[in-house]
This record gives sequence, C-alpha cells and structure tokens, in this order.
Amino acid sequence: MSTATRVKSVRMSSPEETHALGVRLGGLLRPGDFVGLIGDLGAGKTHLVRGVAEGAEVPRSEVASPTFAIVYPYSGRIPLYHADLYRLTSYDDLYSTGFLDMVETGDGASLVEWLDRIPAAAPREHLRVTLKHGSGDVRELTAEAFGERPAELLEAWLLPKC
Ligand SMILES: Nc1ncnc2c1ncn2[C@@H]1O[C@H](COP(=O)(O)OP(=O)(O)OP(=O)(O)O)[C@@H](O)[C@H]1O
Ligand SMILES: [Mg+2]
Repeated sequence: MSTATRVKSVRMSSPEETHALGVRLGGLLRPGDFVGLIGDLGAGKTHLVRGVAEGAEVPRSEVASPTFAIVYPYSGRIPLYHADLYRLTSYDDLYSTGFLDMVETGDGASLVEWLDRIPAAAPREHLRVTLKHGSGDVRELTAEAFGERPAELLEAWLLPKC
C-alpha cells in the first residue's frame, strides 16, 4: 500500500455533526471519486453515507429502502454507489455483486463501507476514511488521500473545523 499524500482528522461530537460532514462531502463528489470507509460496527459509516447522499441530492426514499444487495445504486446529482463489503471475503466476490462493473463505469462516485475487508477493491486513487468510537457520541474521523484528486477533495471537505 502506498503512503497517503494528505491526512486530516476531525472530531464529531454528535450524529448531527457527522451527518453535516457527510452532506458537505456529498456536495463535492464527482464521478470517478472513490471513498472507502473503515471502522467498527456502529462507528458511523452508514450515518456518514446518509449525509453524503443528502448532499448529493439523492431522494431520501432511495436511501431508506431496505435491500440485501452488496451495492446500492442511488441517483442524485450524480450516481452514487454505496457498497458494504462486510459479508465478503475475497476479491472474487466483487464480480458477482456487480460492484466492479459499477465502479469501473466511472459515471458515479463510490462509497464503500468495510473497505478493509477487501482493500484491493479500491482503485489506486481514493480517499480512505476511518471512523473511531470516542466516549459517548464522540467519533474521530481520519481521512487519508491517495492521489491528487483525492487530496483536493480532502482539502475542500475538511476545512478548518466546520
Ligand atoms: N458522532 C456520531 N456520528 C455518527 N453516528 C453516531 C455518532 N454518535 C452516535 N452515533 C450513532 O452510532 C450509530 C452509527 O451507526 P452506523 O450504522 O452508521 O454505523 P456503521 O459504522 O455503518 O456500522 P456497521 O458496520 O454495522 O454498518 C448510529 O446509531 C448513530 O446514531
Ligand atoms: Mg454500515
């Protein structure tokens, strides 16, 4: 794994703060962007993605719809591909789920929970977001950019604490 070109951390002290941070990222994403999300159960990955979907103008009803798929495509300002790799064990599993097809078309932005299950699922250039539990509702978010565009995205997203 190469070294991150840019790293930033922020602390969120409530679910609302995490949501707001997601909304802001959703407003910045472009087709081809890939964001990997890492963190324990309940760390807030999905919560953040719901904010991203809102920021990307995905109708709320789309995100709420329950499904058992590994990849959830949403249509907002741009397509968003929300994937959860929790139940996958190998790179080969990505073929059968349709994940690779969606990412490779490059027409949308991808948000991938549990990227650490299959790190090879990420393209060379990506943003890796790690969420850690603090006490109570506190969460520490660390974003690492791998590549130029991800670094640019990171800069625009995590301005001095919003
Ligand atoms: N600061 C915070 N940011 C995000 N979520 C928080 C925060 N404080 C408390 N929470 C709560 O933590 C939970 C996070 O759940 P979420 O489903 O987003 O986790 P997850 O990382 O996606 O877990 P899983 O791996 O099980 O999918 C929610 O119930 C949310 O309300
Ligand atoms: Mg989740």
